[in-house]
Amino acid sequence: PVAERVDDLLGRMTLDEKLGQMTQAERKEVGAGEITSYALGSLLSGGGSVPSDNTPQGWADMYDAFQAEAMATRLRIPMIYGVDAVHGHNNVKGATIFPHNIGLGATRDPELVRRIGETVAIEVTATGLDWDFAPCLCVARDIRWGRTYESFGEDPELASAMTTIVTGLQGEKLGGPNSVLATAKHYVGDGGTNGGKDQGDAQLSEEELRKVHLPPFQAAVKAGVGSVMISFSSFNGVKLHGHRQLITDVLKGELGFTGFVVSDWNAIDQIDGVRDVFTPEEVSAAVNAGIDMVMVPERWREFISVLRDEVNAGRVPLDRIDDANRRILAKKFELGMFEHPMADRSQFDKVGAPAHRELARQAVRQSQVLLKNDGGVLPLKKDSRIFVAGRNADDIGNQSGGWTLTWQGQSGPITDGTTILQGIRDAVGTSGKVTFSADGTGVPADTDVAVAVIGETPYAEYEGDRPDGVTLTQADLDTLAELRKSGKPVVVVLVSGRPVDVTAQLPQWRALLAAWLPGTEGAGVADVLFGSHKPTGKLPMSWPATPDQEPVNHGDPKTPLFPYGFGLTY
Ligand code: IFM
Repeated sequence: PVAERVDDLLGRMTLDEKLGQMTQAERKEVGAGEITSYALGSLLSGGGSVPSDNTPQGWADMYDAFQAEAMATRLRIPMIYGVDAVHGHNNVKGATIFPHNIGLGATRDPELVRRIGETVAIEVTATGLDWDFAPCLCVARDIRWGRTYESFGEDPELASAMTTIVTGLQGEKLGGPNSVLATAKHYVGDGGTNGGKDQGDAQLSEEELRKVHLPPFQAAVKAGVGSVMISFSSFNGVKLHGHRQLITDVLKGELGFTGFVVSDWNAIDQIDGVRDVFTPEEVSAAVNAGIDMVMVPERWREFISVLRDEVNAGRVPLDRIDDANRRILAKKFELGMFEHPMADRSQFDKVGAPAHRELARQAVRQSQVLLKNDGGVLPLKKDSRIFVAGRNADDIGNQSGGWTLTWQGQSGPITDGTTILQGIRDAVGTSGKVTFSADGTGVPADTDVAVAVIGETPYAEYEGDRPDGVTLTQADLDTLAELRKSGKPVVVVLVSGRPVDVTAQLPQWRALLAAWLPGTEGAGVADVLFGSHKPTGKLPMSWPATPDQEPVNHGDPKTPLFPYGFGLTY
């Protein structure tokens, strides 16, 4: 049994070996031989930290080289490698990219989401990796927050229902050939900060925190999630990374979480409220609060030495170090890493496999939310003359959003997959005619309908914060002005990670389809536009009527433009 194996191993470990297990470094910050000499327990690829050969085999080769160093340690304890595969294995070229969580929330389909988790796990394990920093279970309450799209929506029950993804990622239990360790993040209240500020302060009563933000974590623990990542944010002025009550008493005690807790990137540096480098006090505060593994991407050597001093000075009890190690080692045993430390090289062709893309396309279809359809302009007829405009019509990077190949996501050509424009062209085939201009100029006189694919361009974390409200860009407004001049009926496909303020423009549009961030399978948007799949998506968030109405959530006395749960069909 795992507990016995853990005890046996722990009994043979030195303090330094235990400290190594609790340390996670960025892969680029580790020199040759250091995994062995420090008995380092974990590595991560930060967003966009990809091997120079960014193929499944390139990842497996990199993983195996690191793992070989771990296998050369005295006790041969494998290192565990984590990545943000947050909407597919978005780190590797050619992967299937699924809609971001906000779109999955719109599907209201927990079984679909479980299957997506299972598929992501196949693509992740196909590249040799063990650990996924997903799902994000934040309950986003203010669309000005830059991570809104990583949320399944504003409703705690909806986010809880979608924790089926944990079972998808891990399997019924850890240790299957395609099982990855899942991470419920970011514990807790990151979606409830004032003004939707990333890494901000959730000024809420404990009752509100428990009612709105805690339930998805409770559901994830019930589903057996193996790790939990702590939020950068604060709860009533206290940084979560130093919040012993919420981590140790509530998560590990009340909720009964038996996996391990990991910090966010350099987040222990901010425990004292100042964003500098960590102090010894911050190191002991984090570990004593209940953090088991610390993500110290660059300064991991100092971390080990500071933690050693804190333990030796009696400021961090050895019991706490042992408890952290037990939790980490148990997951490594359960994953079967001691038996199979090296990458399974038999599944490279699973990355971006046709069946995975088909599932993603289905998810795209189910995630579309039809918000307006005057005079039944939709579904489009395949034999019509369609003018497509907008910056997001022919750009897989834009339609995928942040956390795609790079941390901030890429605008520009990702070659695998289908843009929305291509999806429209394929649907029309030779029956009708499709013309395109990104800026909306040159609408042909014989056009029947104009489709404007506009909205947001990629961003991640605080770079996506919009404290003054989420509005259309001037480029999009210019495109719309061109279409208006043509006098043709306009259908808007909004590619965005959240509701956008469209109140002033909406009367000029015949139809509005919220496409969210669909990922690589743009054909799924076309399936809905042409009606081969009728729209079934429901808003996972209230859609504010004006930027100054934010935050708006169902149950508020405020009247949004479109309420939570709204969605039309044909
Ligand atoms: O998992 C992420 C987290 O969501 C934000 N900060 C960095 C982590 C690791 O990349």
